[in-house]
Amino acid sequence: MRVGILTSGGDAPGMNAAVRAAVRRGWELGLETVGIRRGYAGLIEGDLSPLTPRDVGGIIEYGGTFLHTARCPAFLTEEGRRRALETIEREGLDALIVIGGEGSLQGARWLSDQGVNVVGIPASIDNDIEGTELAIGVDTAVNTVVWALNRIRDTALAHERVFLVEVMGRESGYIALMGGLAGGAELVLVPEVKVTLEEVAQRVSALYRKGKHHSIVVVAEGVTAKLGSVEVIANFLRERTNLEVRVTVLGHLQRGGSPTATDRILASRFGALAAEDVKAERFGHMVAWRKGKAVRVPLAAVRRKQMAIDLRLYELVHQLAI
Ligand code: ADP
Ligand code: F6P
Repeated sequence: MRVGILTSGGDAPGMNAAVRAAVRRGWELGLETVGIRRGYAGLIEGDLSPLTPRDVGGIIEYGGTFLHTARCPAFLTEEGRRRALETIEREGLDALIVIGGEGSLQGARWLSDQGVNVVGIPASIDNDIEGTELAIGVDTAVNTVVWALNRIRDTALAHERVFLVEVMGRESGYIALMGGLAGGAELVLVPEVKVTLEEVAQRVSALYRKGKHHSIVVVAEGVTAKLGSVEVIANFLRERTNLEVRVTVLGHLQRGGSPTATDRILASRFGALAAEDVKAERFGHMVAWRKGKAVRVPLAAVRRKQMAIDLRLYELVHQLAI
């Protein structure tokens, strides 16, 4: 069997480890794996080449994706989709392994609906994919946020300042909450929980009245659509509290870096399982992580999580910030 493999959407640390595992496990099972460059763009353009176990050597420790990735608006058009299906036909691909976030997995679902044999692997730092407790890249991104918060706390303490730290996550507050909890943040603002600017100012002021001399507020990017940009929040805090406020936007540094052991292990298990599923001709699902086990979830059930955070942990952050 000839299997195409691609990474799509926002890159996530551990994508390389997943490709490595799928290629090597597939090789042992007698599959021929072909790497498709730049996600669905490479599928449309026919940009592919065979991968052997040696081709995926030395990549387990690297973030990014050696296959490259892309957001591909053309794949949402009829013309793009037709060309993608033509590539699959022309190249004799018997199956596809799609590694990516919720959008990429919707693409996988569409291909599956057209009769293509597909297995999806969830990979996105946002952890917003319904059906899996964890996606590849999440653990590394959360650890990166903690690394950053440790450094910000040093200077926040030294200057007795309030820091607003904006983190990624699209509409999900997962990175903000887990990073904030592990980094000892005083306050986290997530899109899943509605708060007003006035409440934010009151909470920060209350902390200072209790004797704190600094505070770190982790702001999920999804909140800024509702409350205003992080600069707007900062200005409001300055006015209301008279405190010195600084802003740090962590941005794309959260997407890079060597994957943590957790991400490498998850990616290795997912990649190997996807190859095993191809060999067994089990298709139309995403491999997923639930209750400590790798499981399968139908692609038809994959959507963006409405509630990506545990509200008890949201409470806990604030219970501990006294
Ligand atoms: P991610 O996979 O990280 O969530 P995107 O949402 O940008 O990233 O999706 C990556 C690509 O997947 C898109 O550029 C598009 O080509 C494809 N895609 C996204 N949503 C859909 C959809 N609803 N149906 C088909 N393909 C989609
Ligand atoms: O989906 C991953 C993610 O990093 C989001 O957290 C963020 O909103 C978005 O991608 C940024 O996209 P881009 O890299 O295209 O700027």
